[in-house]
Amino acid sequence: MNRLVVVSNRVTIPSAGAKAGGLAVALNELMERQGGLWFGWSGRASDDAASTSKPAIVDHGSVQYATVDLTHEEYRRYYTDFSNGTLWPLMHSLTEQMHFDRRSLAAYRAVNERLSDILLPLLRPDDAIWIHDYHLLAMPAALRARGVTAPIGFFLHTPFPSPDILSSVPDAAVIIRDLLSADLIGFQTANDAENFAASAHRIAGATRLPGGSLRIAGRDIRVGAFPVEIDPQEFARTAETASHNSDTQRLRRSLDGQSLILGVDRMDPTKGLRHRLAGYRRLLETRPALRRAMTFVQIAAESRQEVDNYQYLREDLDRMSGSINSTFGEADWLPLRLTARGGSRDTIAGYMREARIGLVTPLRDGMNLVAKEYVAAQNPDDPGVLILSKFAGAARQLGAALLVNPVDADEIADALDNALRMSRPERQDRWMALWETIKDTSALGWGRSFVNALADSGESQGGRVQR
Ligand code: F6P
Repeated sequence: MNRLVVVSNRVTIPSAGAKAGGLAVALNELMERQGGLWFGWSGRASDDAASTSKPAIVDHGSVQYATVDLTHEEYRRYYTDFSNGTLWPLMHSLTEQMHFDRRSLAAYRAVNERLSDILLPLLRPDDAIWIHDYHLLAMPAALRARGVTAPIGFFLHTPFPSPDILSSVPDAAVIIRDLLSADLIGFQTANDAENFAASAHRIAGATRLPGGSLRIAGRDIRVGAFPVEIDPQEFARTAETASHNSDTQRLRRSLDGQSLILGVDRMDPTKGLRHRLAGYRRLLETRPALRRAMTFVQIAAESRQEVDNYQYLREDLDRMSGSINSTFGEADWLPLRLTARGGSRDTIAGYMREARIGLVTPLRDGMNLVAKEYVAAQNPDDPGVLILSKFAGAARQLGAALLVNPVDADEIADALDNALRMSRPERQDRWMALWETIKDTSALGWGRSFVNALADSGESQGGRVQR
């Protein structure tokens, strides 16, 4: 079997004590089982010549973690400006939020090149390389330019836009050609894979082959959908246990019998939070009888505060939530509790089990694992209702949720009303259909399916693949 080399912008080292997020948990298990190297940014900015150029190596079990600092300038240009100010809104088709500066694109490419230079001496001939996400789109080409012949897979965690939207960024063709140096390119949904293939054809001149592959410069590149999964059984156990813990008990007491509507997101412009609050406001305006019977708790964990659009979002949400509470609130009841502080995974799992409604309405989302976690967290005897944006990748699998258009305040208000009144048998039927969809999936299964497909595409390219 090839040694697996994972490359991602953020690297979570278990021994560093950080609580790993969904993706890190998924990859950690895969890595722990088969061993390998995990390379990427340390999460620190520094101007120290040694820590920005020499990787810090930590061994943990059979996994080696190699991380390097970014300089302050790189952090600003590569991470803040281009990755999160240009590519993130572009990938989510929010072009009006997109900033573009040629210097940031140049810095982005330079960081991709620099990371490739640092990774190069750590590579071995038997490696299979798996690169993750929009921060590292230029890395497949950078590695090939340095003579790397190992199989390279790339997985995009965000959506991929249509060719028209993609063309709104200068140099779209270069970005696509860089990516086409990989052997396998994976997306969350078939729609994203199709958008990429259409862009590769129209913008970069690749030939579309039957079966979904692409051909460019005599090489075939496999393109496919690999929807990210969670560990539903494990999350269900966590939620059941957490429903008895002190955090959940305190929340339950504070609700005093009201129905809990719960949103859990990073505070990010793609998550549809402004529209979500507008939908809740519409519910309060149009259904006064519901007012004291419910509380909406929105956890919107602060994120990427260096990016202007994230600061504006914070200001808007503070203003909108203040207005909702001052307009509809009373001395002994507030309709909305908005917090910019995240919670631990256990606490959130307990809250999810408590919630009558999981409100997940991103404007667009690669997958949205919160939606899957909400389903897994429910008590099968008395489950809550998932209200889900039809523009989240998860909606392709979770069709038994109440699907809404996230920009339509009336549709959100109607769905909330419907969910609050829904009979227990209907809630059970819907939940069972959702659970059936996810119950046999796993994060490990997702990782393995990609790695196996990478081995297959490496073989068909005549690359060095060992099983
Ligand atoms: O969803 C994309 C993503 O990069 C995730 O991989 C990550 O958990 C999240 O955004 C956090 O963003 P950042 O790394 O910018 O803090």
